[in-house]
Amino acid sequence: MGDLVRLSVEDGVGVVTVENPPVNALSPGVPEGILDGVQRFGSDENVRAIVLIGGGRTFIAGADIKEFGKITSGEKRRGPGLISVIEALENSSKPVVAAIHGTAFGGGLETAQGCHYRVALRSAQVGQPEVKLGIIPGAHGTQRLPRLAGLSKALEMCALGDPVSAADAADHGIVDRLIDGSGYTELLAGAVSFAAEKAAAGGPHPKASELTDNLPTPDEAAPVFAAARELAKAKRRGFMAPLKAIDAVECAVTLPFSEGIKREAEIFQECLFSTQSKALIHAFFSERRVRKVPDVPKETATREIRSAAVIGAGTMGGGIAMAYANAGIPVRLKEVTQEALDCGYATIRKNYERSVRRGRFTPEYVQQRLALITPQTGWDGFEAADIIVEAVFENMALKKAVFGDIDRLARPGAILASNTSTLSIDEIASSTSRPQDVIGHHFFSPANVMRLLEIVRGAATSKDVVATSMALARRLRKVGVLVGNCHGFVGNRMFHPYRREAQFLAEEGARPAEVDRVLYEFGAAMGPMAVGDLAGLDVGMRVRKEAPHLYPPGTRRPLAEDALCEMGRYGQKTKAGWYRYGQDRSRHEDPEVDAMLKRVAAEAGIEQREISDQEILDRVVYALVNEGARILEEGFALRASDIDIIYLYGYGFPAFRGGPMFYADTVGLGKVLARVEEFHSQHGHWWRPASLLKELAENRGTFSEWDRSR
Ligand code: 3HC
Ligand code: NAI
Repeated sequence: MGDLVRLSVEDGVGVVTVENPPVNALSPGVPEGILDGVQRFGSDENVRAIVLIGGGRTFIAGADIKEFGKITSGEKRRGPGLISVIEALENSSKPVVAAIHGTAFGGGLETAQGCHYRVALRSAQVGQPEVKLGIIPGAHGTQRLPRLAGLSKALEMCALGDPVSAADAADHGIVDRLIDGSGYTELLAGAVSFAAEKAAAGGPHPKASELTDNLPTPDEAAPVFAAARELAKAKRRGFMAPLKAIDAVECAVTLPFSEGIKREAEIFQECLFSTQSKALIHAFFSERRVRKVPDVPKETATREIRSAAVIGAGTMGGGIAMAYANAGIPVRLKEVTQEALDCGYATIRKNYERSVRRGRFTPEYVQQRLALITPQTGWDGFEAADIIVEAVFENMALKKAVFGDIDRLARPGAILASNTSTLSIDEIASSTSRPQDVIGHHFFSPANVMRLLEIVRGAATSKDVVATSMALARRLRKVGVLVGNCHGFVGNRMFHPYRREAQFLAEEGARPAEVDRVLYEFGAAMGPMAVGDLAGLDVGMRVRKEAPHLYPPGTRRPLAEDALCEMGRYGQKTKAGWYRYGQDRSRHEDPEVDAMLKRVAAEAGIEQREISDQEILDRVVYALVNEGARILEEGFALRASDIDIIYLYGYGFPAFRGGPMFYADTVGLGKVLARVEEFHSQHGHWWRPASLLKELAENRGTFSEWDRSR
């Protein structure tokens, strides 16, 4: 305990320092250590005030999230730990000051709310991000924060969970004084002198639980809650916790503090045991686990990336160049013709201008970013680039020719990356004299926005190239996931059967809009038909033509999208695909498509029938799960949770379901297998159950346990 919390005295002020790196989470021992400090300093005559501060880079970043799993699994009970500490802080007769740098999140901010005063470095952030873990603030935050910050700010923070800057917090009474300076030392000095001032001024010191000035009457508050609920439903569609957080904050207005905290505890408990919370906590740890590559330890040396070059200024190349520029890395952008280059560069400008209009970037920021991008048709500067990213058309012969060129030009040690979405990295690498430097960097469209980066390791890719790519992903503000080199890698390999099943369902009688509705209601950002229209139906048609091995003779082949392409309906770009699109991009069902589906089904002898929502959901989602299991057994993903991250960040899979593999765990793999076997007997070949799915289902296992066993 003594190790986690350090006590010292400066200028007659008792300093309680939490030392639980890296983020000073409230792990067992930390609340007890703080309580011990408050009690000791409380009875120490030489101490006139108390400062609570975090050692290292941050104040307290919240409860220890690992503990939640222990509570829900029954391994331990939730104790009064943090709450009794907060009460002791508030009841101290000596003034207590929270000194905030880094992040005061969740239980960290609630601890600070128990203190009489809060000071913060200008760089600090505060927040109640619990809803992002499917829970609500559980240490009285829903009751103290509205009293401190007013109802609207508290609702925004508790229901949406986004961080708030120290300046904003100061404007809303959450922070009493901003401290100038860059680090811990200045913060501590500022906090100690603030505490001394307050001690000299004398008590009583404000208790957030007793403040009432900021609380409206229930009648005044009613429209504010109604608006907050509408906003939460729109911004966090399908998430349960934001609405629960609003229910809890409502108690601050309708009940006395002592009753409000009881209601908060009940709602917290309900949320903690929910499947959504387990899924979101799974996502939190999966996002961090994804960085760990067993045979590429943290200590692996990385190559320095100071400059980049991108080949191809189309949809992807332009976005990739923007991602580098946004990370402050100068980048050259090469096209074949001046015309294509102008067009690509104009798109980049347009995208930046849109960001300025939306208030995301300032005009100065955009000027700085644009200055980092050098458009060109020649090879100038490629010889100096630390990384070269190829983003030309998806054609193996072309990619090999391009890699042959860069092999001749690039400096020794430069990383040569391909943004191919399906092609073999090994074959591409074979056109160079340095396959150890070649790797796949599969960005997702729009590449300057989407968070996922699939990092594709070839057979010869060296470990330092893998390590550098993982580190680079973070610099580019992406979540990098290491995957193996198979057709479509992980994401697109799974997406293929997902969209294939969606087509089969339409051919069997499900209306395309119905398929999309079911997936949308499940929580997906978009249904499979709408996604097809957005990406372009010709892309899939080309894949089916260029990779005939994907549909061996005798297997059922999707017919509907080829028929749509024959009708000139390529999707949004031709204003027609699965849907018809208005000038304003509005989407309409189209009888022509229904007629086509009837015709195609009749010609192929497919009987059309009523299809239930459950069948639609099971067929598309279990198609993902079965292929995911096959990818795991073949070793093309390191863990099931990596697949989940790919789907959460690259494909709009609902975060509160935890990803396709975690979702399957929550359904129960026995049930999933039974359904897959049923589809296998009805539809044949494509539904052959993956061996890993069978093995786990038969042994009552889960993908999560399988991950842990590795
Ligand atoms: N509990 C347990 N571990 C945590 C943690 C937490 N609250 N926060 C971070 N960690 C761990 C991470 O898992 C990671 O571990 P690893 O190195 O073994 O992978 C390590 O700390 C570093 O975390 P990051 O890589 O995320 O570090 P960053 O510097 O990028 O980000 C952060 C720091 C902004 C604090 C970010 O970690 C974060 O947002 N953490 C979660 C904060 C949060 O949700 N707090 C609320 C918790 S719930 C709560 O408090 C309930 C209360 O109301 C009772
Ligand atoms: P695109 O057609 O928009 O752009 C390709 C660009 O490359 C064109 O502007 C073309 O002029 C240029 N180009 C062709 N040969 C060149 C050469 N030798 N030198 C310089 N430039 C050359 O294609 P898009 O969509 O950007 O795709 C590029 C790559 O990214 C493909 O491999 C694709 O599979 C992959 N990808 C595409 C995604 C998407 O959603 N569009 C998503 C992820 C990967």
